[in-house]
Amino acid sequence: MSDRNRVSADLAKLPDLIVSWYRENRRTLPWREEVSPYRTLLSEIMLQQTRVEAVKPYFERFLAAFPDVATLADADDELLNKRWEGLGYYSRARNLKKCAREIVDRFGGVIPSTLPELLSLPGIGPYTAGAIAAFAYGRPVAAVDGNVLRVTARITAETGDVLSPAVKAKLTDLVSSLVPADAASDFGQGLIELGALVCLPNRPPKCDVCPVRDLCQGHAKGIADQLPVRIKKTERKLDRRTVLVIRSGTRTLLHKRPARGLLAGLWEFPNYSGGFTEKEALDAVKALGFEPLRVRPLDPAKHLFTHIEWRMTGCLVLVAEPDFPLPEGYVMPETDDLLSRYAIPSAFAAYVRYLSAPLP
Ligand code: ADE
Repeated sequence: MSDRNRVSADLAKLPDLIVSWYRENRRTLPWREEVSPYRTLLSEIMLQQTRVEAVKPYFERFLAAFPDVATLADADDELLNKRWEGLGYYSRARNLKKCAREIVDRFGGVIPSTLPELLSLPGIGPYTAGAIAAFAYGRPVAAVDGNVLRVTARITAETGDVLSPAVKAKLTDLVSSLVPADAASDFGQGLIELGALVCLPNRPPKCDVCPVRDLCQGHAKGIADQLPVRIKKTERKLDRRTVLVIRSGTRTLLHKRPARGLLAGLWEFPNYSGGFTEKEALDAVKALGFEPLRVRPLDPAKHLFTHIEWRMTGCLVLVAEPDFPLPEGYVMPETDDLLSRYAIPSAFAAYVRYLSAPLP
């Protein structure tokens, strides 16, 4: 038998091994205990670029507020952002609502089950479309995310760049050819689970407990821990910003971000491009109409977005009670109200603690 044929003959055993292992070893996760297309859609969008442990508390809370597609399609934007607060990548929440709207308008409120229909919806890419079709509807299609790329790159000893379209397509074709018609969901989730529990990212894989070690070419060649090869292209643009926590008594000034672009429509502490001196910070406070009384510099913080890195410095400024209408787009809620009703993205998390910090 040629090497090539031996690899494909061995890989024919992969689906059974993955499915049996998954059924024995899978974690109990909220979206697995009760399965529906809506629960799969929601969990898969939440899990994009976000760890399972981080998603767990959000999932049920979000479902309680938006129990079905129709409710989500009519969601109040402030509540939507609030339920997503801290999960990051807020465009996912906006797209999820748009997606629900289109499901209502174009598919009578029923989440479609075919890849072309799913791919026509906002926020749904090839992985999420595959996940909904396979995990919720049992269709024999591949759902290839970063976990699955890593697992299959190791199993096939793929040394090309898994972020390149050619290698992604090759590994996706391989998974598609192996999906068992009667266990598409357990096979797809099994590959993800193996990636999460055994075939670990950025750490040596636990080959000693791996159910597919005997057919893993990466293991046989002793290179599993050097795979997958990923050639990163994204350089983040550095943006230095100054964040102002402007307080009057127990009220703090917030600004609503523009409806489009980064963190669209969320609430923020007023912040400006550049690293301000104390005088520049006070000038900005005065430009908003406030009379500064006291000022205290705050610790620097940073936040990573996909393509931008914010390096922030900040000032806490106590101001006289405003006796003028706040400028357009600004509010000054009491701390309790601010924390319960206004969605402040995690980019500003380092400054939220100054809502009640003492002034000099
Ligand atoms: N990551 C992405 N999808 C997942 C799923 N369904 N279960 C666990 N981790 C995941």
